[in-house]
Amino acid sequence: MDLKNDPRFAGIEPFENKIWLSSPTMHSEERRWVDEAIQTNWVSTVGANINEIEKQLAEFVGVKHAVALSCGTAALHLAIKLAGEKLYGQTRPNVGTLRGHKVFCSDCTFGASVNPVAYEGGEAVFIDAEYDTWNMSPEALEKAFALYPDVRLVVIAHLYGTPGKMEALKAICDAHGALIVEDAAESLGAKYKLGDRWVETGTLGSYNCISFNGNKIITGSSGGMFLTNSKEDADKVRKWSTQSRENAPWYQHEEIGYNYRMSNIIAGVVRGQIPHLEEHIAQKRAIWERYEKGLADLPVTMNPWDREKSIPNFWLSCCMIDESAMAPMVRGEQDFQYQTVPGKSSPQEILDALASFNAEGRPIWKPMHMQPLYRTHPFITAEGNGVDVGADLFRRGLCLPSDNKMTPEQQDRVIEIIRSCFE
Ligand SMILES: Cc1ncc(COP(=O)(O)O)c(C=O)c1O
Repeated sequence: MDLKNDPRFAGIEPFENKIWLSSPTMHSEERRWVDEAIQTNWVSTVGANINEIEKQLAEFVGVKHAVALSCGTAALHLAIKLAGEKLYGQTRPNVGTLRGHKVFCSDCTFGASVNPVAYEGGEAVFIDAEYDTWNMSPEALEKAFALYPDVRLVVIAHLYGTPGKMEALKAICDAHGALIVEDAAESLGAKYKLGDRWVETGTLGSYNCISFNGNKIITGSSGGMFLTNSKEDADKVRKWSTQSRENAPWYQHEEIGYNYRMSNIIAGVVRGQIPHLEEHIAQKRAIWERYEKGLADLPVTMNPWDREKSIPNFWLSCCMIDESAMAPMVRGEQDFQYQTVPGKSSPQEILDALASFNAEGRPIWKPMHMQPLYRTHPFITAEGNGVDVGADLFRRGLCLPSDNKMTPEQQDRVIEIIRSCFE
């Protein structure tokens, strides 16, 4: 609904140029490395850019090996397949490595975190989120192991760049002999305190994945990476990603293959972005803090993080409306309705207001257990009495415009629009 002419927004001007949720931010170095790849004719899936970003990111994150892939989803697929093969052995080409097995997965995440479980024939069991970080609840995970003690694989995502409660989650997984695939697609550069040691996300699982999708903290336009400390596992993933060719003079295959390797052109873009990672994080943090301050007197709270044990990369700023300030809002499968109530608002109303003024927000990722695709899968909550944290985050939360090119003045106008929704 267009709210531009609603009297609550009188005096606010629409943005001439759209304010994005999170768009790519190019600098000058990207062109240098892409041009060099073209000039030297290294444009396919081998070349200096690939080698360089694997080296630089492994070093930055603090793992021994990185494998550059076509996207984060490919990294997750191969990480999950590898975990399946470790746990349950190699299968025939037409059988997924997880067939007949359940896998515990973050519920509040993007579908790409969990779809690879299905690619490998497994059944995702969704673990509810907690309110402190909006990530997987250790209590719910504990409960899930009580219900399904045979499970040996857990896929954990860090939502919006905020690390989850990894110490507790890791301890539970260790106690049950389960492997972790860490989905750090959204959280490159976020830090976590494990014991008394600060580490990067992307080091916290047995196999870890990051994404260079166009909306991420740094981008290659697309791309992803598999991270591990095991050379053998990195070599295996590299081999799988390049069609599983054996070391023979002809095309020789002992395993099923994929065309998942990153191109040296994409790697050139990533190579140009890496020097700007910390700068992007600082910009995103400033945006988060400006929202926290600007929205402080409204009945909303920002997406939370553990200030002792984590430093997010602040990829997306989000907020959640207090229950007492929620105007009625209902969502169908693809549509919604809300009422306008003085002093109250709803995520869909705020998103409509932002869109009316040419700014992009987004609903909180709809939890996996609420997706029609996965509705028949088990879903485990901490309390088991109908308290569904993920559904509540989806109902009351929204992602705010978080583009690092947004100026403070533009952000003030975004805040003004949100404020007007509650008038
Ligand atoms: C949590 C999460 N996992 C996985 C992905 C998939 O990454 P990609 O788009 O690079 O395939 C994304 C984003 O796109 C994501 O946000």
